[in-house]
Amino acid sequence: MSSPVTEPIPRFYDLHPDPGDLVAEILCGLRQTPKRIAPKFFYDRRGSELFEEITRQPEYYLTRTERWLFEQHGEEMALGLGRDAVVVELGSGNASKIRLLLEHLRPSAYLSADISREFLLESGRALEAAFPWLEVHLACLDYTRPWDLPAALAGHDLVAFYPGSTIGNFEPEAAARFLDNLRSVLGGGMRLLIGVDLRKDRAVLEAAYNDVQGVTAAFNRNILEVVNRVADGDFDPSRFRHVASYSEHEGRVEMHLEATAPHRATVAGHSIEIQRGERIHTENSYKYTVNGFHALASEAGYRPERVWSDPSNLFSVHLLRAVRDEPGEP
Ligand SMILES: C[S@@+](CC[C@H](N)C(=O)[O-])C[C@H]1O[C@@H](n2cnc3c(N)ncnc32)[C@H](O)[C@@H]1O
Repeated sequence: MSSPVTEPIPRFYDLHPDPGDLVAEILCGLRQTPKRIAPKFFYDRRGSELFEEITRQPEYYLTRTERWLFEQHGEEMALGLGRDAVVVELGSGNASKIRLLLEHLRPSAYLSADISREFLLESGRALEAAFPWLEVHLACLDYTRPWDLPAALAGHDLVAFYPGSTIGNFEPEAAARFLDNLRSVLGGGMRLLIGVDLRKDRAVLEAAYNDVQGVTAAFNRNILEVVNRVADGDFDPSRFRHVASYSEHEGRVEMHLEATAPHRATVAGHSIEIQRGERIHTENSYKYTVNGFHALASEAGYRPERVWSDPSNLFSVHLLRAVRDEPGEP
């Protein structure tokens, strides 16, 4: 999943999980019924590039709508967040959205945190070149595991940025736990600007996750390439078809890989039987109503302060303020 670093990179913190832990996590998921692979395994360099390509597909309204919201309301957002803070972006990807806010926010430093190591390094360097006044820190980490803020940034006024509706990849209870934990890592007084996709017509949602160019399908299949590399596997991605559908009942788009023929794969020396039509669950993308998301944020110890959405109510951006210091505190 990662290439070796030969010399220290300034302000780069490599907190990537131990490869052995990742293999154990993959095997655990493949032993479940239905089989599952966590969405974080989408993101090697190729996966990050494919995701970037997804965001350019006409059906994928999420990115262009969220960007429009930052373009329209960036100044107000920055007023709510405050200037001169340290901005911590989670799952930053190509770090293109923070660019729309930087001149308004004028942060004292920016930490880009992502699991996709090479992509993180490249997008971080590009950001530094585009904003020479900005002190850029990079952390390769898995935020679903315990993590700490790099010591150089601890104790500062902190603001978190979590765009892209990536929060939707968590089950709602896990999303609340994640936000609760974020509050404890960043400390009392932190603010969070978060992008959340909204519930809407099934056809619009299903089109977004089934683009006609087949980029989402390639992205979905790439997870097997990552598993093969991380866990010494021999999955053949061409033996699976991409399936994405909206469950109205659950309020989520589900992504699966469906086997087109019965076969066997080997992962870390373990044999995995796959039936024809069997599905490996790769991602949920929960969709929220504004009130539903506010309830979740309140449960996690935040006060919703502002929400911005587009005229068609496709997407929302929320400004939340931490109101408790300790995780799980009432
Ligand atoms: C849906 S993409 C969003 C990218 C970008 N924030 C945007 O809005 O376009 C999710 C991003 O989160 C990162 N990511 C996913 N799971 C992660 C994890 N467990 N820890 C750290 N980063 C993760 C991925 O590498 C990817 O860059």
